[in-house]
Amino acid sequence: MKFPQCLMLIPLVLAALFSFSWATSPHQNFLHCLSLRSNDSSSFSKLIFTPTNSSYESVLDSTIWNLRFRSADVPKPLVIVTPTQISHIQATIHCSRKHGLQTRTRSGGHDYEGLSFVARVPFVVIDLVKFRSVDVDVENRVAWVQSGATLGELYYRIAEKSKTLAFPAAVFHTIGVGGHISGGGFGSLFRKYGLAGDNVIDVQFIDVNGRTLNRKSMGKDLFWAIRGGGGGSFGIVLAWKLSLVHVPATVTACTVSRTLEQNATELVHRWQYIAHDLPDEVYPTIALRGFNSTVIAFFSSMFLGTIGEFLPLMEHRFPELGLTRKDCAEMSWIQSILLSNGIQNQPLEILLNSSSRVPIVTPSYKVKSDYVKKPISETGLNGLFSRLTDEAAASTTVILIAYGGIMDRIAKNATPFPHRAGNLYKIFYDVGWQETDSIHSERYLDWARMAYNYMTPLVSKSPRQAYINFRDLDIGSNNIGYTSYAQARIWGRKYFKDNFKKLVRVKTRIDPTNFFRHEQSIPPLY
Ligand SMILES: Cc1cc2nc3c(=O)[nH]c(=O)nc-3n(C[C@H](O)[C@H](O)[C@H](O)COP(=O)(O)OP(=O)(O)OC[C@H]3O[C@@H](n4cnc5c(N)ncnc54)[C@H](O)[C@@H]3O)c2cc1C
Ligand SMILES: *[C@@H]1O[C@H](CO)[C@@H](O)[C@H](O)[C@H]1NC(C)=O
Ligand SMILES: *[C@@H]1O[C@H](CO)[C@@H](O)[C@H](O)[C@H]1NC(C)=O
Ligand SMILES: *[C@@H]1O[C@H](CO)[C@@H](O)[C@H](O)[C@H]1NC(C)=O
Ligand SMILES: *[C@@H]1O[C@H](CO)[C@@H](O)[C@H](O)[C@H]1NC(C)=O
Ligand SMILES: *[C@@H]1O[C@H](CO)[C@@H](O)[C@H](O)[C@H]1NC(C)=O
Repeated sequence: MKFPQCLMLIPLVLAALFSFSWATSPHQNFLHCLSLRSNDSSSFSKLIFTPTNSSYESVLDSTIWNLRFRSADVPKPLVIVTPTQISHIQATIHCSRKHGLQTRTRSGGHDYEGLSFVARVPFVVIDLVKFRSVDVDVENRVAWVQSGATLGELYYRIAEKSKTLAFPAAVFHTIGVGGHISGGGFGSLFRKYGLAGDNVIDVQFIDVNGRTLNRKSMGKDLFWAIRGGGGGSFGIVLAWKLSLVHVPATVTACTVSRTLEQNATELVHRWQYIAHDLPDEVYPTIALRGFNSTVIAFFSSMFLGTIGEFLPLMEHRFPELGLTRKDCAEMSWIQSILLSNGIQNQPLEILLNSSSRVPIVTPSYKVKSDYVKKPISETGLNGLFSRLTDEAAASTTVILIAYGGIMDRIAKNATPFPHRAGNLYKIFYDVGWQETDSIHSERYLDWARMAYNYMTPLVSKSPRQAYINFRDLDIGSNNIGYTSYAQARIWGRKYFKDNFKKLVRVKTRIDPTNFFRHEQSIPPLY
């Protein structure tokens, strides 16, 4: 019986082999479809890359900063499209749907799980690298910025026109505007002005049917969902109209470091009671790093004002830290951005160079996040510190970011981002390493999971909250096919708490067939 069965398989095998060379494979059909859909097919074809094009790899790698996603065993897109016109995006969506290909949208490529350029099904990347204009209107204090621009480009264009305007988003200059704002986006101004998503006043959006929508035509709920509900679920945001915020001409940046021998444990413990209640103008953080057998705690603050104003405040609120004038420096807000990137001696133009890597970021990394509602005891802190001196934690930084300020006063359902009042601080575990191969990675990933496990009783519970922009697939993910509401709710509640339900409702209306999807996209209710 075995022999004839084998023979019967031969035609099938041959057919499968041939389908790769015939113009009937899904991606050949997809490319053919694109050429039919474009009114200028010769210039559009210059924007389309398949593995046979010599520049495919450099285009793909151009914004893959996390080297663990560059290795050969990571699945690659069949096609990368770098549109320059809305019609190119519409054609790509249309042809992907028609030929059963998934699409991933990439702006700055910083997704911590690589979801903008990695998928386990045949897929196409829409790379917005050419949608990066920034238009700043100082008089009206607004800016239109396209999703493919970096935060560095946005900040540079604002600073070019005004020393006292800024935008409240992350300090790392290579991050893309598109993914960042989609997930909320916080930085050194968030205790004063809230998240990037809180400061969006209009958008240009493309839905699954290729319709272009703005704030008015998309309706309140979709405008709510795309300002914090995470990228890649609802459609493609092409551009954002931002409300710019005021910063003083002089800001102050201070850092004091203390080792365990210099009472770091007591000081971190004390900080938990103080930082949350500091004025909105202060951005207090602690970076914890293992060094040989000790831990160094770097107490940093950015203050919207002068050293002369800041020192008496800290002397009054946190005398134990012993902050002095020599720990601080005055600068413009844009210089504080360079400082946070470790490029303070470079000309501002470095912010326009999207191929210049942030020097303080390790080649490979994995992140996790937590929220803390009650101060952690010294014993609890020491348990984390002892793990930070493990060899596998060599290049890891754990950062505590104080909450409070305006975050306590914005309603939990104002945007999808629910982590507002009730949180003392957020923890960001940035597990980094120097090696780029997958064998070493496992050791560091294990350390990350072990440390996160240790923290369970010390942080928020039911759900254990997490921040979508610090994406972590360990907390739950969707299936490749159908995913039930109950399954998605596991990770969804952690990122969005009660707002998850409304995100599912919006998704069901705008993209009922779940075309825009990935491992942690909002599922529709079927
Ligand atoms: C070194 C580093 C530092 C960071 N620091 C901070 C920080 O201080 N504060 C903070 O809040 N976050 C921080 N992040 C996280 C960062 O905000 C997120 O990774 C963010 O999603 C990155 O945006 P992107 O455009 O670069 O990413 P991408 O990888 O391009 O996109 C991220 C997700 O959004 C989707 N997406 C991208 N563009 C669009 C679009 N135009 N429309 C719809 N969906 C889209 C993608 O498909 C993907 O699912 C940091 C990340 C890194 C790597
Ligand atoms: C193609 O169509 C788009 C709009 O659909 C238009 O903006 C563009 O100018 C057209 N290009 C050419 C070469 O006709
Ligand atoms: C990639 O190769 C195809 C087929 O040779 C060609 O039509 C297309 O223009 C190339 N793309 C780029 C960006 O050069
Ligand atoms: C650490 O704290 C102890 C007791 O509070 C104090 O005596 C000591 O001087 C402190 N050490 C440093 C380096 O500040
Ligand atoms: C850690 O120890 C190594 C040798 O064991 C030494 O070379 C290095 O300078 C030490 N690092 C710090 C920060 O003390
Ligand atoms: C941009 O940065 C890269 C990498 O650091 C560097 O090689 C290049 O010269 C820079 N380009 C400009 C124009 O500064």
